[in-house]
Amino acid sequence: MSQNQYHDERVECVLHPASEIGARVQELAAEIAADYAGCPMLHVVGVLKGAFVFMSDLVRGIQTSDGPPVCIDFVRASTYGAGVKEAGEASRSVSLELLPDGLAGCDVILVEDILDQGFTLSHIVDVLENQVGVRSVSLCVLLVKHLAEPSAEVDDLRRRLLTTHKVYAGFEIPDRWVAGYGLDVGEQFREFPDVVIVNEELFQA
Ligand code: IMP
Ligand code: MG
Repeated sequence: MSQNQYHDERVECVLHPASEIGARVQELAAEIAADYAGCPMLHVVGVLKGAFVFMSDLVRGIQTSDGPPVCIDFVRASTYGAGVKEAGEASRSVSLELLPDGLAGCDVILVEDILDQGFTLSHIVDVLENQVGVRSVSLCVLLVKHLAEPSAEVDDLRRRLLTTHKVYAGFEIPDRWVAGYGLDVGEQFREFPDVVIVNEELFQA
């Protein structure tokens, strides 16, 4: 039974409280501000919907860390729909909407709530690099899941993504479904200030 402020049996526990997230986001923002010092315009592209809370804290942190001016865009990705992932997946189709114009030749930071199997970020990075023609793309991801049993394809995809790009990562988390701070489970709990672990079985039909 859940013993936390959410008083909801679907919330197993708080994984990262808001205060801890706030401090870590400020550290990431300071690192980005230092790395991009002198950049005339940093294009920050958030992945909707999950990154909306993280991104709003991150860009203000970049400003208060004396970072470069930023230009904000969003792309909307749908990977899991209303569901959660299944074991041993080798691929997932990702559909993109709202892909911003005008990013050709730009330095881009792609801001995402979570790296799980890597399908979403790999697809967006591929589009930015090979269709849009950005100058550079780095990744800023609040949560990186440590996968218990990734398929060989997923292992390879994640390794390629993480080794060929600069990655600003907030926290490594266990292989559970999490929600809050913008992340959802079946479109719920995005408004929670903390990141919580949910009881997945209570969301499976
Ligand atoms: P990936 O493509 O497997 O890396 O999954 C990334 C996308 O799935 C993220 O953008 C999230 O929207 C969603 N996602 C993956 N794991 C979780 C989770 O534990 N909670 C909420 N959303 C998640
Ligand atoms: Mg997402």
